[in-house]
Amino acid sequence: MNKLFRAAIWLTGLLLLSCNSTPQEEPLADVIERGLKVSTEQALLMAKELEHQEGRLPKSVKEGKLETSDCYWWCSGFFPGELWYLYENQPTPELKRYAELFTERLEDVQHVTNNHDVGFMLYCSYGNGYRLTKNPAYVDIMLTGASSLCTRYRPAVDAIRSWDFNKAKWQYPVIIDNMMNLELLMWAAKTSGEKRFENIALSHANKTLANHFRSDYSCYHVVSYDTITGKPHVKMTHQGYADESAWARGQAWAIYGYTMMARETGKPEYLAQAKNIARYLMNHPNMPVDKMPYWDFDTPDIPNTPRDASAAAIMASALIELSQLDKSEEAKSYLEYAEQQIRSLSSPEYLAEVGTNNLFVLKHSTGYLPKNSEVDVPLSYADYYYVEALMRLKKLNR
Ligand code: GLY
Repeated sequence: MNKLFRAAIWLTGLLLLSCNSTPQEEPLADVIERGLKVSTEQALLMAKELEHQEGRLPKSVKEGKLETSDCYWWCSGFFPGELWYLYENQPTPELKRYAELFTERLEDVQHVTNNHDVGFMLYCSYGNGYRLTKNPAYVDIMLTGASSLCTRYRPAVDAIRSWDFNKAKWQYPVIIDNMMNLELLMWAAKTSGEKRFENIALSHANKTLANHFRSDYSCYHVVSYDTITGKPHVKMTHQGYADESAWARGQAWAIYGYTMMARETGKPEYLAQAKNIARYLMNHPNMPVDKMPYWDFDTPDIPNTPRDASAAAIMASALIELSQLDKSEEAKSYLEYAEQQIRSLSSPEYLAEVGTNNLFVLKHSTGYLPKNSEVDVPLSYADYYYVEALMRLKKLNR
């Protein structure tokens, strides 16, 4: 009887304990290490897969198979850049060899003048490589690339032209994504001492600030300018749901672009813009609880429509940097929000198991839904900005 009574008490205690205990959240430092470990293993497998496919770089997945590109696709710099971040985290000769091999596949991009993506391509690849190795050969390539990008600037518009297609519709199209190319110009100004690079970057950032944003701080995807008056003649979307909608990745480029320009210039107006975009995104009623945006904030198909992990990764990386630049009370909330996004991206829903996902790190990104292109697939830039965000968090000792 006594024995039975004691067993009953013990069992009741156990039951109460299990009812009260909430599952322990994985420490953020462990999330970061786990994310970097998976990313490193996947990136090395991807590097081995493509090592002997001359000139090829990972792009996405099409019909279940790895899709690659040559160096002229706008995403060519992301995989080399990811390898550089992973090398920074774990400086092994193998990671360095692969980072150099894939970076140097982009050498000819320095001469590209027919689109604005030169900044993305060269700064993610050669830029990270130069930051970590100070290889002098990389300087000339990046400076030539910066000059190529500047050929797309016209004083009458005071901005860099993004695209050359669709000339019947757009006189001088500038897309919000173009803010990302300014980092190469800011680097070129500091490195060469040539002020023109910085002047063009500032003109472009100011023109975009004046014309791309709505009163709620969401932004248009495309603003096309009249080449004579320099005024916008059309504001619309290309990859989003509608002209007046908020295409998720466009909003992510916007917050990243103005945060980066605030860091590079110290200008309060860029910091204020980044904070306004952050408030818009963080308080958006259509942002899901896991903070992984749908591909467009205004599509009527929500919640039955794909997410865009790339937008989440870009936004998280930007918010981490913003939390360090902003000296107000709000800074903490940016970091907390980014940490939640990193936890979601590092969950089994988004983070691939090693050896799966065609060797990409993240699942569930969306490239261009209205064209039914790259819908709910891995994308090389989602992986790049995820790894960048992990490294930014790690450096903060989170
Ligand atoms: N820069 C093109 C895109 O974000 O899809």
